[in-house]
Amino acid sequence: MSTLIVNGGRELFGEVSVHGSKNSVLPILAATILNAGTSVIHNCPKLRDVYAAIEILRCIGCEVSFEENTLTIDSKNVNNCEIPDELMREMRSSVIFMGAVLGRLGRVSLFAPGGCELGARPIDLHISALKTLGAHFREEGGAIRCEARRMRGRDIVLSFPSVGATENAMLAATACEGRTRIINAAREPEIEDLQNFLKAQGAEVYGAGSSTVTIEGKRPLSSVEYTVIPDRICAATYLCAAALCGGRVRVSGIIPEHISTVTTILDGMGCDIRIDEKSIDIARRGRLSAIRNVRTMPYPGFPTDAQPPLMALATRCAGTSTFVENIFDGRFRHVGGLIRLGADIKIEGKIALVYGVERLYGSNIDATDLRGGAAMVIAAMAAEGESRIGEIHHIDRGYEKIEESMSALGADIKRR
Ligand code: UD1
Repeated sequence: MSTLIVNGGRELFGEVSVHGSKNSVLPILAATILNAGTSVIHNCPKLRDVYAAIEILRCIGCEVSFEENTLTIDSKNVNNCEIPDELMREMRSSVIFMGAVLGRLGRVSLFAPGGCELGARPIDLHISALKTLGAHFREEGGAIRCEARRMRGRDIVLSFPSVGATENAMLAATACEGRTRIINAAREPEIEDLQNFLKAQGAEVYGAGSSTVTIEGKRPLSSVEYTVIPDRICAATYLCAAALCGGRVRVSGIIPEHISTVTTILDGMGCDIRIDEKSIDIARRGRLSAIRNVRTMPYPGFPTDAQPPLMALATRCAGTSTFVENIFDGRFRHVGGLIRLGADIKIEGKIALVYGVERLYGSNIDATDLRGGAAMVIAAMAAEGESRIGEIHHIDRGYEKIEESMSALGADIKRR
């Protein structure tokens, strides 16, 4: 098992370019099976979750090749609707294959998805959306079996703007007869990216980015070439790292608008921020002030995925910062690791109070989940002395060689 060894206390300087978005590419990979041709996907990050999705694509009959950051998928021979438990358990986003395989083959059999341990992560909204479109579900020996003889477009009303349920509904609706409207849809940039990908293969989809997404189903789909948007959560992580360690960093190859809630907070804390069309420059001198109140919310609110790295930053600010986690009930698992590094944090239900300390100290800690693990890495980079971070397979799910990007900025961090 690999470990990250971090010698903290170095300021960061230079430029880091952000890789393609994990949360965009995974539903897009599922969407490739809706056409019976070839999909060429550029800016595809080399992440554990992407490799897990490739295994699922191969299992259902696709031929896949991955060169540099371009993935080519031939989905002509998709013929297997059964996704085994061990592939499903690799990642949460595997559930996105439910709508796509159902759309292509009219049936699908899979297991409850794995992924980060962030508390209860039910899929009732996914199932109810697909039922509305005509799918029937039954459970058999732990497997979820789903079948639809004829799928028709309908109005799907989501009781919460779930990202995954919106994506599953969009994928299945593409294969339905007639019009589907997803009401109270998620508005995340990744939904818009999925819409753009579906349109690029010939589907008629509009409204993504607003709370109603409309799909005119059963359009003939064709081969496609597409470039995935940059990863807004990686961008937010690098910005928090620069603010925490000090120095001057340019985060490039990004869409700044996607993380405007994060940059507004960093600005309010006292960072120097300059926003250009595709990059953000950040510099920090002196001590930053605490954040009054961060509430995680569906987009365009503050992203739950950026909460752990921002909390790592808050550990060393002057004053007390308050975080309210509204999306996941198990999303403070990184707090134990931050406390071991010297942070002073109290949790009460979905609220975390972070009392700023002057210094953090190196320690041995384990990554608990993807973004929590990234938060521990950047806290260790700002701590005095050596830290060893274990269980880094969580971090590899969403950051392409985090040690290389951080070292390029001047951090002392190695994988062993
Ligand atoms: C969520 C985040 C997304 C992030 C991803 C990975 C939100 C709204 N979504 O997406 O931005 O990139 O995690 O960390 O911030 N829920 C149900 N039933 C369901 C589906 C969801 O009750 O069938 C609940 C979840 O328990 C959770 C909330 O809805 O409390 C958000 O879930 P959802 O948006 O579906 O999660 P992800 O798609 O994983």
